[in-house]
Amino acid sequence: MSELVKVENLVKWFPLRRGLFSSLFRREELFVRAVDGISFNIKEGEIFGLAGESGCGKTTTARLVLRLIEPTDGKIYFKGIDILSIDKKEMRKLRKEMQIIFQDPYESLNPRMFICDIIKEPLKLQKIGNSEEERLEMVYEMLEKVGLTPPEEFLYRYPHELSGGQRQRVAIARALILRPKLVVADEPVSMLDVSIRAGILDLMLDLKEELNLSYLYITHDLATAKYVCDRLAIMYLGKIVEQGDTLKIIDEPMHPYAKALIDAIPVPNPRVKIRKIPIKGEVPTPIHIPPGCRFHPRCPYAKDICKKEEPPLVKVNKDRFVMCHLYS
Ligand SMILES: Nc1ncnc2c1ncn2[C@@H]1O[C@H](COP(=O)(O)OP(=O)(O)OP(=O)(O)O)[C@@H](O)[C@H]1O
Ligand SMILES: [Mg+2]
Repeated sequence: MSELVKVENLVKWFPLRRGLFSSLFRREELFVRAVDGISFNIKEGEIFGLAGESGCGKTTTARLVLRLIEPTDGKIYFKGIDILSIDKKEMRKLRKEMQIIFQDPYESLNPRMFICDIIKEPLKLQKIGNSEEERLEMVYEMLEKVGLTPPEEFLYRYPHELSGGQRQRVAIARALILRPKLVVADEPVSMLDVSIRAGILDLMLDLKEELNLSYLYITHDLATAKYVCDRLAIMYLGKIVEQGDTLKIIDEPMHPYAKALIDAIPVPNPRVKIRKIPIKGEVPTPIHIPPGCRFHPRCPYAKDICKKEEPPLVKVNKDRFVMCHLYS
């Protein structure tokens, strides 16, 4: 499999805006270190997962990969092209091949537009299709692909006239109408009722095969990550702390944080006891990141070195990496 996306040492620090009062008393500039040096790649045809608790930097990473925001540091390659070095016009052309699906289909769809216009809009912006008729034909076909059938029943409805699951299908149709290569799905099912999540995930998996897609799948829910992802990265406070084959990580997590997250996955059988390792306290803010290993204040295995030195990223085997002093 060839590499579609390659991210190297990606950093995004947001400067913290402060009032005059606190600026007078504290001179140093503060930053929200949302993404703090991460590297990964996504191969063609692969589903790469990024998982972690709220605020660990998942959405910021998604926006960086699509260059919707500029990084503080690092490199992003898409099909081998250094996307940070190209101009706006070239970026617009490339963006046709990279699309995003957001968490909340209600917020991401314009409430005053008909479904057909919502799905058609990217075609118009990218000047695809010779006539209105041709574009409508493409919308019709796309509605069928995402399971909104018969399409004529959906073309002239507004988003509020659809269910949450149907709305997310519209968002998927809009993302795929340009036939992208990469789809970034930022928690695509977390707002949906549990009963319809599997249907949307199965649709995404089917469309991936049919349209030759690759996904960056973002989630805080490891159960869905296990269901869809080929490889997985576990993120904590702006860093990837473990990365590798999804099933291997879920079956035998190495990093104490990965272990804690995996132990928290609900088990359908109530008689099976959930193993819980003690994980103390709350996630610190990404403004004051603990020194040494950023997970050490919550880690049940923390040693002296963990408080002082940031652990290196250790390559365990071909594509398994872990960032923890227990393994270095
Ligand atoms: N534009 C911004 N300006 C300042 N800080 C920001 C900005 N966007 C995000 N952050 C901060 O960066 C950190 C990471 O945010 P991000 O949205 O990437 O997290 P997330 O992992 O997607 O969380 P969630 O699971 O809740 O969606 C948070 O502390 C957030 O407050
Ligand atoms: Mg997010």
